[in-house]
Amino acid sequence: MRAVTWQGTEHVSVETVPDPTIQQPTDALIRVTSTAICGSDLHLYEVLGPFMSPGDIIGHEPMGIVEEVGAEVRSVRPGDRVVVPFTISCGQCAMCRQGLPSQCETTQVTEHGSGAALLGYSKLYGQVPGGQAEYLRVPFADYGLMPVGTELPDDTYLFLSDILPTAWQAVQYAGVPEHRSLAVLGLGPVGQLAARIGQHLGARVFGVDPVPERRAMAARHGIEVLDLAEGAVGEIREHTQGRGPDAVIDAVGMEAQGSPMAGLAQTIAGRLPDAIARPVMERAGVDRLAALHTAIDLVRRGGTVSLAGVYGGAASPMPLLTMFDKQLQLRMGQCNVRVWTDALLPLVEDPEDPLGVGDLVTHRLPLDEAPVGYDLFQRKHDGCIKVVLDPTIASAPAVP
Ligand SMILES: NC(=O)c1ccc[n+]([C@@H]2O[C@H](COP(=O)([O-])OP(=O)(O)OC[C@H]3O[C@@H](n4cnc5c(N)ncnc54)[C@H](O)[C@@H]3O)[C@@H](O)[C@H]2O)c1
Ligand SMILES: [Zn+2]
Ligand SMILES: [Zn+2]
Repeated sequence: MRAVTWQGTEHVSVETVPDPTIQQPTDALIRVTSTAICGSDLHLYEVLGPFMSPGDIIGHEPMGIVEEVGAEVRSVRPGDRVVVPFTISCGQCAMCRQGLPSQCETTQVTEHGSGAALLGYSKLYGQVPGGQAEYLRVPFADYGLMPVGTELPDDTYLFLSDILPTAWQAVQYAGVPEHRSLAVLGLGPVGQLAARIGQHLGARVFGVDPVPERRAMAARHGIEVLDLAEGAVGEIREHTQGRGPDAVIDAVGMEAQGSPMAGLAQTIAGRLPDAIARPVMERAGVDRLAALHTAIDLVRRGGTVSLAGVYGGAASPMPLLTMFDKQLQLRMGQCNVRVWTDALLPLVEDPEDPLGVGDLVTHRLPLDEAPVGYDLFQRKHDGCIKVVLDPTIASAPAVP
């Protein structure tokens, strides 16, 4: 089959690799029909390179059709249309039963002290072959596959795999709707959806991003948008009686603009030999913290900061004096996908599209053009906001 493989820093390639097979009676195989590129893939593309091996199959936002199931799989059959959550969870352990499948005790990657294994996401999360491929093996298929209807297009359902429940969780953790004003830092795909969800649940939502097309997209969904460079913090405070919003979501993560020193450290660590870089990254602070520190500064006293953005440094400096003095609440974590999807399914199927999932994808490319997709998404060129790769269409022949 064809699959997107990590080959080195800022280098992915589409290769022919062996088809996956059923390995456990609880596995299923799916034929992928759509598979998106996530901001988390960009972290692998550059910063988290030391935790990758050349040839790793990446991708964790897939959906498709069940091809084959293991002997113990009960909830899906070949031919069913399914979405695949990015977290690999058993659905039965103490963590899964408590609504924390992203901490699944059956799949935790104890060697690296990590939570549940993830599809296509580095040694830190189990080095499991990912979903930017023609076929995918899905472990614990009874819990790990979400059957969906057959009438509506893939884009209606695809984001249930990751970014929609991630954004929903971020808004729930932010305390909306009890909290009435919400600022979302970062208007990438996760921030777009978080802002729209916040508004859907009744909050006044401010959205901040340095990229004009991303602000324009949020603005057409009624979000009050601000450019980072133009004193966003002061302006949002003015709109919130000088106090700051009740909650702030950081939908940026470890590669925020505005952290030049950490940016340099990331670049250096990313180019060290892996055996040296890994311990540096596991023990030192190499996160670009500009967005997180803005969130802490911006939120009102007693407010909540909710992190959807992923951070990776083990010793990243935090302004504890301010956090304690402002009496902040901080919530974060990998998304517990299946906990939220039952509530989200009717919203994505609603013809009114209350969360605006129909207005997110800017690029649909053949799987073979994944390197172009990664480059556009990382550089934010050509108005790129969300890329979906389609393994069912052939790439255009090269112009002679
Ligand atoms: N918690 C989870 O389970 C989970 C799931 C999916 C994605 N994520 C994470 O969410 C984050 C966002 O993902 P995405 O797909 O939207 O990626 P993205 O990279 O497209 O979005 C990040 C956005 O932040 C903006 N930005 C950069 N610096 C900023 C700053 N200082 N202030 C405000 N905005 C700034 C960028 O212009 C960009 O639009 C990533 O860190 C990703 O890893 C987490
Ligand atoms: Zn993701
Ligand atoms: Zn579990």
